[in-house]
Amino acid sequence: MDKIIVLDFGGQYCHLISRRIRDLGVYSEVMPAFTTKETLEKNPDLKGLILSGGAASVYDKNSPKCEKEILRLTRGKRQEARDRIPILGICYGHQLIAFLEGGNVISSTVGEYGITDLTMLNFVGQGFSLTKGLKKTEKVWMNHKDIVKELPKNYSTIASTKHSRIAVFANETDKIYGVQFHPEVTHTENGTKILKNFVIDICKAKREWDASHIINNIKQEIKEKIGNRKAVIALSGGVDSSTAAILVKEVIGKNLFAVYVDTGLMRYKETELMQEIFSDNVTTRLAPAKSRQTWNDRKHEEKQDSFSRFRGLSRLRGKSYGLNLKIVHAEDRFFKALKGVVAPEKKRKIIGKLFIDIFDEVAIKENATVLIQGTIYSDRIESGITKHSSTIKSHHNVGGLPKEMKLELYEPLRNLYKDEVRKLAAKVGLRKDIIKRHVFPGPGLAVRIIGEITPQKAEIVRQSSYIVEQELKKANLYEKVWMAFTVFLSIKSVGIQGDARSYKNPLVVRIIESKDAMTANFVKIPYEILERISTRITNEISEVNRVVYDISNKPPATMEWE
Ligand code: XMP
Repeated sequence: MDKIIVLDFGGQYCHLISRRIRDLGVYSEVMPAFTTKETLEKNPDLKGLILSGGAASVYDKNSPKCEKEILRLTRGKRQEARDRIPILGICYGHQLIAFLEGGNVISSTVGEYGITDLTMLNFVGQGFSLTKGLKKTEKVWMNHKDIVKELPKNYSTIASTKHSRIAVFANETDKIYGVQFHPEVTHTENGTKILKNFVIDICKAKREWDASHIINNIKQEIKEKIGNRKAVIALSGGVDSSTAAILVKEVIGKNLFAVYVDTGLMRYKETELMQEIFSDNVTTRLAPAKSRQTWNDRKHEEKQDSFSRFRGLSRLRGKSYGLNLKIVHAEDRFFKALKGVVAPEKKRKIIGKLFIDIFDEVAIKENATVLIQGTIYSDRIESGITKHSSTIKSHHNVGGLPKEMKLELYEPLRNLYKDEVRKLAAKVGLRKDIIKRHVFPGPGLAVRIIGEITPQKAEIVRQSSYIVEQELKKANLYEKVWMAFTVFLSIKSVGIQGDARSYKNPLVVRIIESKDAMTANFVKIPYEILERISTRITNEISEVNRVVYDISNKPPATMEWE
């Protein structure tokens, strides 16, 4: 499949470039800045290369740079100009091209930050290849202090801004282009048009990146990677692992064992829902674990829109996907292992290790040698897959996998963004409510309990998060937000309930919107809804006397508290 590679020079929008290209229907992936010409030429379908933005200055000795020869990548053995793979530099990438080609890049006296007017030179109505279809003046988004002061030989200036005389340049013979602004951000009004001109017209990349193609490719890969072996998949009830499970099942059938581990840190009634949806044996329902039935549980079941909603939906669904589903009740094991543990990374590591122990146990029993996970692209970015991204958390579908694993790890959705997974999920017939379900972290409620984890705290978070979700559904807001949940703080505050002093726990409500999990904003929920949520939580959960709303964006916060 035709491919555009984006080299990552550390810019915060690097992955967004790849995103936008995929939105055009062309496959794109990000590779580290130091990727060699030799490695790049191993991609026979490579149609174009983009050098991303970045915070460094090209004239600094230690700034990230690619080999100069990369600018003359060719298809096949011939070194002729007409076989060149087109290159586009964006911001730092624009400056790097000028620098490597012998131009002059300097720090400007004034920077350009925000929206700026870009004026085309020698505008004759049509524009030239990269700026075709653009107006004489366009609004573009800038974020730089360095500028290209002098062009290299054989390059010409296409457009300028007030403070950046060489804001767009081109070397049409060698098909090398540079833009000082960011076409990938929505503030650049016709940014998509510029990327389209580059990817489709200049690189001549075919638009093959659609759900059917992706599914065929993944299935082909599953065949090659797993073959006749048996595999276990960690099913979490989210759209990623569910989609991965259905795809793998379609290829290897009964050789797949879907393992759902009830850690005691799962969502409200999750285990029952999993069994209803995925098990062949849909009529036998597991009795809720004993610990679940304590404490306010009955009250919730009596609510007309609680569990009965799941049952109603499952009657409508018509198929169970016929997975070999294994439900493992491991609540006690998890709570025991987490007893007394407070440090977030330690919790994640313990959970990851225990998950793997459990999968190993199932795998030995079933003779499976492969562990499949529904890890997606954003999970990997945050785990530090590229040189310039730092490890923020031991992010993983099962929360920080140990290095030594008996099972071979395979992640069929690793290159997909969330909305791409959702498109695939619809194509393979995953139930709509699962597709639209909010994501849920691998370590579960553990990352939403600050301090020591206990079954009772987990229950408080589970029940209160369910209340938040219910209220958002009633207000038609559930599907419009990325995630909504509560966080337990291991502190107490004074309140007044029933004319008496109370000294109880507060809960944090967190409702966020995001496109791809990389950045997020808290949602400006109407006060009436927040009030309803707060009242219900303090009325229905006797351990809580105060509710606060988290108004932090990502960055600087992360979505989860741990
Ligand atoms: P953060 O907290 O990093 O979360 O802003 C971004 C998104 O990732 C989810 N998340 C995880 N997902 N395993 C997962 O599968 C994990 O270990 C993990 N930690 C966070 C989080 O729920 C949010 O959607």
